[in-house]
Amino acid sequence: MKTSPPATVEREAPAVEAVESSSLTETVNKLRRRLVWTAVWGFLATNFLMFLRFFFPRALFEPSPVFRIGYPSDFSLGVDTRFQEQYRIWVVRTTDRLFVIYARCTHLGCTPMWSPTENKFKCPCHGSGFDMEGINFEGPAPRPMDRAKVELDAQGQIVVDVSRLYTSKEFNEPGAYIPV
Ligand code: FES
Repeated sequence: MKTSPPATVEREAPAVEAVESSSLTETVNKLRRRLVWTAVWGFLATNFLMFLRFFFPRALFEPSPVFRIGYPSDFSLGVDTRFQEQYRIWVVRTTDRLFVIYARCTHLGCTPMWSPTENKFKCPCHGSGFDMEGINFEGPAPRPMDRAKVELDAQGQIVVDVSRLYTSKEFNEPGAYIPV
């Protein structure tokens, strides 16, 4: 007597495939949904961060143009370069005056260097030379270097203001120097 395989096994195979296929589709859909939500949340988070950035503008905090450099007695005759790095100035003391040269070449704005051996400021860019009072005498610089405003405060300290510069025509005006 012949026995045939049970009919249920043949019928179950397509059903199992259908279940597997539907669970695969469900997994793919889940992944798609997750991807879409990740993209949406990423977009929203980026926009939110950009919105927050409005409250923290990228600002440059520059040092104050007005500052104190000590007392006239702190400076001996000649050129003092100790504030060049910090404030871009040189303090010059002559027999009767103290003044502050703003360390900017009047040709194209480079910072000259003080050469004590040559007793002059030399601009490294195009070779302009200035004497110890900042007066141009060689190279392409068209005029002397400017001087910053100087005055004494109530304690006798020198207050420098580099937002007010004096050109050579104004070198004898009050504020362009301190009598010593
Ligand atoms: S910038 Fe100083 S010589 Fe040109």
